[in-house]
Amino acid sequence: MALQFTLNGERREVSGVSPTMTVLDYLRENAELTGTKEGCAEGDCGACTIVLAETTDGKPQYKAVNACLLMVPQLDGKHVFTVEGLSASDDLLDPVQDAMVKTDGTQCGFCTPGIIMSLFALRQSDAEVTEGEIHDTLAGNLCRCTGYRPIVEAAREACVAQPDGSALATLDASDSYQKADQTFHTPKSIDEMAKVFAANPEANLLGGGTDLGILVSKEREALSTVIHTGRVAELLQIDETDTDITFGAAVTYTEALPFIERLYPSFATLITRIGSVQIRNVGTIGGNIGNASPIGDTPPCLIALDATLILYSEAGERELPIEEFFLDYRKTDLKAGEFIKAVRIPKLSETQEFRTYKISKRYDQDISAVVGAYRIELEGDAVSDVRIAYGGMAAIPKRGVACEAALIDNAWDLATAMTMLGVVQEDYQPISDHRASKEYRLQVAGNLFQRLYQDLSGVDQTLEVVAV
Ligand SMILES: Cc1cc2nc3c(=O)[nH]c(=O)nc-3n(C[C@H](O)[C@H](O)[C@H](O)COP(=O)(O)OP(=O)(O)OC[C@H]3O[C@@H](n4cnc5c(N)ncnc54)[C@H](O)[C@@H]3O)c2cc1C
Ligand code: FES
Ligand code: FES
Repeated sequence: MALQFTLNGERREVSGVSPTMTVLDYLRENAELTGTKEGCAEGDCGACTIVLAETTDGKPQYKAVNACLLMVPQLDGKHVFTVEGLSASDDLLDPVQDAMVKTDGTQCGFCTPGIIMSLFALRQSDAEVTEGEIHDTLAGNLCRCTGYRPIVEAAREACVAQPDGSALATLDASDSYQKADQTFHTPKSIDEMAKVFAANPEANLLGGGTDLGILVSKEREALSTVIHTGRVAELLQIDETDTDITFGAAVTYTEALPFIERLYPSFATLITRIGSVQIRNVGTIGGNIGNASPIGDTPPCLIALDATLILYSEAGERELPIEEFFLDYRKTDLKAGEFIKAVRIPKLSETQEFRTYKISKRYDQDISAVVGAYRIELEGDAVSDVRIAYGGMAAIPKRGVACEAALIDNAWDLATAMTMLGVVQEDYQPISDHRASKEYRLQVAGNLFQRLYQDLSGVDQTLEVVAV
């Protein structure tokens, strides 16, 4: 069956290309649209940014994405825009292009198509275009020569109008796509997915592809069977009750963010530091858990928040506390043919506080050296309940049981927070790598207790103590 999408407004039916060909290669080599550039080929530079659009709940939604990490079948049923599609002629530029010319927002021009596409998506969104929003939009687009001042100025100028809002046709996506011995499955229901996975237990599950996509983009691997979670209705659901919120595994960071912002603001700050807008537009919560990386950002938070995973297979559904899911380095409790359906997170009670801190070399677009996550409850001046987890400190995202035991029923003051440096070493024996040394990791993990204390008490006593 052919893939169907529109490319710059023209309907395309595609067959005969490998299902694991990247969209970037398809655009440049097959569609001969070379305006979309290849820089890093791993989601970092934004030179390959294109825009995907779909009508959701009657409203067109435009999302900037990195073409280097997407596989061609991920375009099925979508509207695709590249820089070539924006202007009708050299005299009739898109407002974003026009503003970039007027503000001298380009020099060598290599980054420019990607920047134009990121700003085009921002212009089409109904987000309030604040300075913060502009900077966030551009954080995934690296420009080495112009400097961002004129680019930001172009964004301020061009991204003020209301979105176009024109309806976009709804296109069908096929259930599977095949070329030679490679198959890409796009199940629409959870039972369909379980059936396909049971028949192909060696298949690669694909959420947004911001981890898996590296295998095809960088490693040039031709995966034989891929099962895409992005169209499985049950995996796209968000359900909220009085006591908890449940995110389907295929819910993206962008979709989850408004809920997380309302319920766990500190967690939301961390999520806005995962990759870039392009990464968060396709990267899923299920992918971050399924990837089982020791430095994934959400698992420590989900462990500290006492989240439960809902796992699914042809045999049915089972639930597992997320801390029991990670067994060893990149090894999880998933059985053959089983996958993550959803994650359920309890809401915070009136007396619980949640904080998480990400330590990385850069603020934006960087992988963590250490993530600390803390859910804490105080009774008077003492700690009555606490759950602690760290990422980057062991082979798996891991709960800090000695740290918790050292805090429970103890006074919550700066002196206690400062003793935690010693206790952290009972829970964790981190390794040194190119992101951080083991000594640094231990030191920073201990120091974060002081930050937690200051954050919760609103008191900065560090200087007084140091002076003593
Ligand atoms: C430039 C860049 C920056 C990044 N920055 C960060 C960062 O700051 N913090 C961070 O934590 N991560 C970061 N990542 C990693 C990645 O974006 C996240 O891990 C993301 O959540 C992966 O989701 P995905 O849907 O793209 O996963 P995919 O790549 O589609 O899948 C990842 C893994 O999970 C498995 N999987 C997917 N869905 C399921 C499921 N339902 N059940 C079981 N297994 C499943 C897949 O088989 C695969 O092994 C970054 C990646 C890039 C390219
Ligand atoms: S080529 Fe750098 S993000 Fe795609
Ligand atoms: S204009 Fe040269 S990299 Fe941006």
